[in-house]
Amino acid sequence: MKTCVMPPTPGALALAGALIRAARLVAFPTETVYGLGASALDDTGVANVFAAKGRPADNPLIVHVASPQDARFLVEWTAEAERAARHFWPGPLTLVLPARQGHATVAVRQPDHPVAAALIRAAERPIAAPSANASGRPSPTEAAHVEADLGGIIPLILDGGPTGFGVESTVLDLASTSPAILRPGGVTPAMLAEAGIHATTTPVVVSQGASPPAPGMKYRHYRPDVPVIMLIGGERHAGDALARWAREISEHGGRPAVVAFEREAAGPWPNVILSSPEEMARELFRLLRTFESDADVILVEAPRPEGIGLAVVNRLEKASSAVLAEEDPLPEEIWRVRRSGA
Ligand code: TXA
Ligand code: MG
Repeated sequence: MKTCVMPPTPGALALAGALIRAARLVAFPTETVYGLGASALDDTGVANVFAAKGRPADNPLIVHVASPQDARFLVEWTAEAERAARHFWPGPLTLVLPARQGHATVAVRQPDHPVAAALIRAAERPIAAPSANASGRPSPTEAAHVEADLGGIIPLILDGGPTGFGVESTVLDLASTSPAILRPGGVTPAMLAEAGIHATTTPVVVSQGASPPAPGMKYRHYRPDVPVIMLIGGERHAGDALARWAREISEHGGRPAVVAFEREAAGPWPNVILSSPEEMARELFRLLRTFESDADVILVEAPRPEGIGLAVVNRLEKASSAVLAEEDPLPEEIWRVRRSGA
């Protein structure tokens, strides 16, 4: 199949709407990451999404709506949902609510992106969409990332330029006894609390100074083709630790790349020094995709796990094959998993 990449002109949007109504797939930008859309009202369209991504069947999709009114057709609209939507829609907050029919719950969100909104209007129906990456790969923040993963598999990518937040929406469970954040994202616990929604957060598994073992290889998430090593708890000497590891990898004939906040991490290896957790959220997935072709190991300094940093640490932890503190040595596995000269 030929994949067309088109700017979101009226003609392209009309074509996209027709494709969605015919149970075909359209990739489109949102304010978080690119989504892979199908008609939420069509089982064939939804099945096509799972097939295109190679996504496990037990991981449900978010339904994207044009307004809270549209969400009411799909879910039991509670007072808490109304409050959340009033404060954060359109925006990067997904609400898990009791379904009106079929499944027990449905996740809904109104994206804050003109192209996403125009696509829902053109399709004349809500759009079920996961992130538009091949299952297990870093989420796409540019049309080119979608093309790299799904080119030849889907008919159309609407190219709206780079996305804004760079990490996916916050998933807030409002169907259980008390509100719970199932996935941290652009809407932080503090922002929810300010709106009067007090949600429990799944604790960040990674704690300061600890160096837990590699996350299970069976759940691949956000992973580029080369190993990622995440440095946590690096307050004052993170840059030095990253430079030490990068030098060691170079000395063994490997090619390190570094993403950090501290200048000291720069060296004669590909590196990007970021100025804030917000910038890391925006750039992380793109940098993982860029460096997988230039490097054998990607070393990343984690932000503090607070605010948007919670979402970044959550994604990084899943992307990483090892989590280290600054005094730790590089793990033995790194020398085994490193691609041999490729
Ligand atoms: O920002 C985003 O949310 C992006 C853009 C495209 O909107 N979408 C996205 O979709 O990240 P996806 O499929 O990659 O992640 C959806 C998340 C998964 O963690 C899934 O398990 C959860 O939402 N989810 C979906 N329906 C659910 C439900 N009924 N109950 C609990 N979790 C649900
Ligand atoms: Mg995803």
